[in-house]
Amino acid sequence: MIQVLSFVLPTRNCEVQGLAFLGSLIMVKDIKHIHSYYSPNDLFNKIIEGLNKLGKDLSKVTLDDLQPVDEFHIRGDAATKELIKLSGFTPDMHILDVGCGIGGSTRRLSRETGACVTGIDLSDEYIDTAKRLTQLLNMQERVKFHAASALALPFDDNSFDGAWSLQMNMNVEDKLSWLEETYRVLKPGGRAVLYEVCGNKSMPLYFPVPWAQDSSMSFLVPPKSFRDVIKSAGFDIDVWNDKTDLAQQAFANVAEPMGEPVLPALGVHLLVGNDIKTKAYNLHRNLDEERVSLIEVVAVKPNV
Ligand SMILES: C[S@@+](CC[C@H](N)C(=O)[O-])C[C@H]1O[C@@H](n2cnc3c(N)ncnc32)[C@H](O)[C@@H]1O
Repeated sequence: MIQVLSFVLPTRNCEVQGLAFLGSLIMVKDIKHIHSYYSPNDLFNKIIEGLNKLGKDLSKVTLDDLQPVDEFHIRGDAATKELIKLSGFTPDMHILDVGCGIGGSTRRLSRETGACVTGIDLSDEYIDTAKRLTQLLNMQERVKFHAASALALPFDDNSFDGAWSLQMNMNVEDKLSWLEETYRVLKPGGRAVLYEVCGNKSMPLYFPVPWAQDSSMSFLVPPKSFRDVIKSAGFDIDVWNDKTDLAQQAFANVAEPMGEPVLPALGVHLLVGNDIKTKAYNLHRNLDEERVSLIEVVAVKPNV
């Protein structure tokens, strides 16, 4: 699929001032592969079906109702709430969520801080779902979404007061370009909150995992290399926490799946397929055998 690269001017009241067509971004083979992985059909309607099965009143859906499906990162909403505290983001700010998925943490970040938040993601199916869920929650005034690549952000330099990226780096081979793009669109003094899976002492990984069907979609580097590339992009590192132990605890009881999977009405299997239990089990093994780690970072664009 060819993705349209739009140019968006963020403003303080969250309105999109201009949306000019610049051309088409012809995705290189690897990104196409990743785009297909994150492109389920008819996702919004499947989520609505799940909410109906759970007996939810669609006129009163809450952030917590959606949490099983829309916070697609290790430790879900618990991690999002910790990151929000760490961020220091305030209501007057406009924050960019890079690799926002279907926007669960984008919405929670806006709801809890009062900030405007704009999310971008490679997957147009996710972005369409993110917009429709945001309307369902009546949050569209302060939460916006656009399909775009983290490697070519469709925003001016120095546009955002803060940036936020939860578990996207695993799919990004060119980490320096991603981080340089984030740096470019941040205002001087702006903070970038990153919550990312990295490699660890052992290799290789067990596949599939929640972010990749096989090794062609997963680009993990050890924490030290990740730290180096953040600094190479120009950032100072303000906070660096290893959260691997919390991830290990969260997956401690994930057993090897046997037979046909019994899946919940609402869950991340809707985002990445019915083999999610095998993916979760492999993540558990990768964490326990120190093949992956989980790192929380606040990086700051220095004031000039
Ligand atoms: C594991 S999901 C995390 C989604 C979201 N941050 C969350 O925590 O719920 C990874 C996301 O990164 C997106 N992604 C991967 N590579 C990307 C790229 N180059 N540019 C933008 N988004 C990308 C995927 O489409 C997917 O939505």
